[in-house]
Amino acid sequence: MRVSVIGTGYVGLVTGACLAAVGHDVVAMDDNPAKIAVLREGRLPIYEPHLAELVAQTTRAGRLRFTTDVAAAAQGVAVSFICVNTPPRPDGDADLRYVEGATRRLAEHATGDLLLVEKSTVPVQTGQWIQKTLALYAARPGLTFDVASNPEFTREGMAVEDFLHPDRLVLGVASPRAEACLRALYAPIVEGRFACPVHPDCRVDRAVPVLVTDLASAELIKHAANSFLALKIAFANAVADVCEAAGADILEVVKGVGLDKRIGRAFLNAGLGFGGSCFPKDLRAFVKIAERTGYDFTLLKEVTRLNGARQAQVVEKLRRALWILEGKRIGLLGLAFKPHTDDIREAPALALAQRLLAEGAQVQGYDPQAGAKAHEAVPALTVCPDPYAAAEGAEALVLCTEWPEFAALDFARLKAAMVRPLLLDGRNALDRDTLTALGFEVLGIGRGRPPLPPTRTP
Ligand code: UDX
Ligand code: UDX
Repeated sequence: MRVSVIGTGYVGLVTGACLAAVGHDVVAMDDNPAKIAVLREGRLPIYEPHLAELVAQTTRAGRLRFTTDVAAAAQGVAVSFICVNTPPRPDGDADLRYVEGATRRLAEHATGDLLLVEKSTVPVQTGQWIQKTLALYAARPGLTFDVASNPEFTREGMAVEDFLHPDRLVLGVASPRAEACLRALYAPIVEGRFACPVHPDCRVDRAVPVLVTDLASAELIKHAANSFLALKIAFANAVADVCEAAGADILEVVKGVGLDKRIGRAFLNAGLGFGGSCFPKDLRAFVKIAERTGYDFTLLKEVTRLNGARQAQVVEKLRRALWILEGKRIGLLGLAFKPHTDDIREAPALALAQRLLAEGAQVQGYDPQAGAKAHEAVPALTVCPDPYAAAEGAEALVLCTEWPEFAALDFARLKAAMVRPLLLDGRNALDRDTLTALGFEVLGIGRGRPPLPPTRTP
């Protein structure tokens, strides 16, 4: 099918490349000419595992093209995915001006029937507005426009895998025609009929569940899913605080809790808190949506409040260990909001860096992918070329983002570089018994049970 994506950010680029990879003919449009120029040169404006290979393969095969021209994304296209950003307004509501703009321009340039799909996270009832906008700005009478909501549940760092192997597909539609169109589009993914770029030998043993529903319910599924995941994390963080005070170990507690099939272990990792372009923003937007319906979502307000307090708690821990923070050098391992991405939007590591800088500390950090973006966002943060440089002269090192490579560092070298071997593992990702044996003073999150004393070898 001929498909277009409007917006080539984290969501649009993954959507476009994956749909091209399963056999569709995709035009990816973005208003940012610099972004399109980079993509046309065969480079990627973002880091996302497997995406570069996928974009290269599909552009070479002539199934993925990049443009700044909205007409090319509207004409002769059967389905268009809206993947523009929906930033928060000061009051927490989602700013939908880009969604409206994209809709209007598609309507003005469409030459045939078009199904417009909301991929960006939007408030409930946006579908109705899109429908009205399409009717209002249609280039000529007689064109049929359909609207659908097909929320994405892809995690950054795992986006290609999540797109091609989803837990479920949600198709919010207002007509049988829209349903048929989306079913045809996703058939290769639902039936596993594509060469998997992530696991070349993967075999799909079951069809992907498809939930066909109305537009408003699909829009709400996205908000409810993200909010529930954020709630799970906030709950684990709260339990971690109790563990710390009560002499218990959060890792043992979530293991025991997560073994209950009704709960599950996923998204119970306590730490510095959640960040990214989705959870913080979507929570605020969901609270706003509920408010408009007359419901005061105090539960989610509390999740936002608790999450916002995580970094201050870490500063407090450092203060308890180091006494005065002013003038002290503190290293940060990991600056991206999560591993396997260069995305720093609402990154807890950067919020922590800013707090420490405000205390007068000298902050130096390292990230495998996000260094340049982090420095741009927080110029006072010294970005180091490797983790050992981030430890140089430091009185404390905080692991903020659990990149797997941090577990395999040469910790003796790291310790030798530091003034004081204090390691605060903000994601409980390191083996604290081994580190304690190496002579580190190790602090974690919710780890009230002391580490094993170092064993002396005779
Ligand atoms: C965004 C939102 O952040 C997310 O909440 C939503 O669910 C999907 O869209 P993301 O892809 O991460 O996710 O955003 P971003 O990386 O900012 O990409 C948006 C792209 O749209 C940018 O490349 C931007 O240039 C482009 N855009 C935006 C347009 O081409 N035209 C516009 O009018 C607005
Ligand atoms: C999220 C949703 O998972 C995805 O379905 C949706 O489409 C977009 O929003 P993303 O923000 O990319 O994806 O990453 P995710 O893996 O959900 O992590 C979000 C944040 O929560 C990160 O800062 C991460 O470090 C944090 N987190 C996650 C925890 O603190 N603990 C956990 O147990 C899991």
